[in-house]
Amino acid sequence: MTEEKHVQGPTVRPRRLRRTPALRRMVAETHVVPSSLVLPLFVREGLSEPSPISSMPGVVQHSRDSLKKAAFEAAELGLGGVMLFGIPGRKDATGSGAIDPGGVLNLAITDVVAEVGDQLTVMSDLCLDEFTDHGHCGLLTPDGDVDNDLTLAAYADMALAQAAAGVDMVGPSGMMDGQVRVVRQALDAARHTDVSIMAYSAKYASAFFGPFREAVDSSLVGDRRTYQQDPANAVEGVREVLLDVAEGADIVMVKPALAYLDVIRRVRDAVDVPVAAYNVSGEYAMVEAAAANGWIDREAAILETLTAISRAGSDVVLTYWAAEAADLLRR
Ligand code: PBG
Repeated sequence: MTEEKHVQGPTVRPRRLRRTPALRRMVAETHVVPSSLVLPLFVREGLSEPSPISSMPGVVQHSRDSLKKAAFEAAELGLGGVMLFGIPGRKDATGSGAIDPGGVLNLAITDVVAEVGDQLTVMSDLCLDEFTDHGHCGLLTPDGDVDNDLTLAAYADMALAQAAAGVDMVGPSGMMDGQVRVVRQALDAARHTDVSIMAYSAKYASAFFGPFREAVDSSLVGDRRTYQQDPANAVEGVREVLLDVAEGADIVMVKPALAYLDVIRRVRDAVDVPVAAYNVSGEYAMVEAAAANGWIDREAAILETLTAISRAGSDVVLTYWAAEAADLLRR
């Protein structure tokens, strides 16, 4: 007994490394930097002024003009990229506005690329839900089911339209089986071999997408549970990611982020491509709502959120706070 006491060393004091801001900075394991942040931007056909999205205070649907300005500012701030979403003036059963070279998203891609050149990675959502009148991510069978393989053909056409508009990176987000392979093949066959793919690989049927549905004027009735993943499954998330890497994904994504930090970690450990995570609309809205009520320190919550998502293993974070966070990080 007494001997045991004797061999005990000095008290271990981890607090020594927390004493000053400089010490804490020096030993920080995670660094959020503007260049790894991607700002999602919405552009709606026919707008002459930006239009606010009530469930996402501070986020707007852009006009073509205000979109260019937002992209320019993103480049000035040193962000990694922008992810563009288009809301067409008219939706139809096949989402034809997604493929039309004169469709709002394709025009916006050309506008933004002309504005920022190679200063920013210009990405576009590759999915039909913003363009279909039923709001699903794909084409429907006569029974109303989402037809996987028919949808793949539409995604190939959409990829070609976006590539022709000048996009750097496409983001297939519809969770159809085989979507990365079909998009890669279509791009390669049309000699768009330099257009890269950020695959929304492990995408869950999540309640945290709620505010996004307002952001894109979605007409969805029901849910996406036959194609997006069950929140209960993490092993399956890794399976989806590995399939996408095998099909040619350059970057894989986990979405949402905060309720899926374990999935981000598993994916980071499983692949040798960059991992992205999408800090989605509902995650944004929760912090903004609490902050508006004076219930939370908004700026601290934003930085802690982005740090946690990075610490879990994501190399790239898509976040509606990207521009503001870049500004905060410079202070
Ligand atoms: C599909 C898409 C969605 C989001 C990004 N891409 C909606 C969905 O799958 O229902 C959600 C993004 C967010 O909630 O911030 N085009």
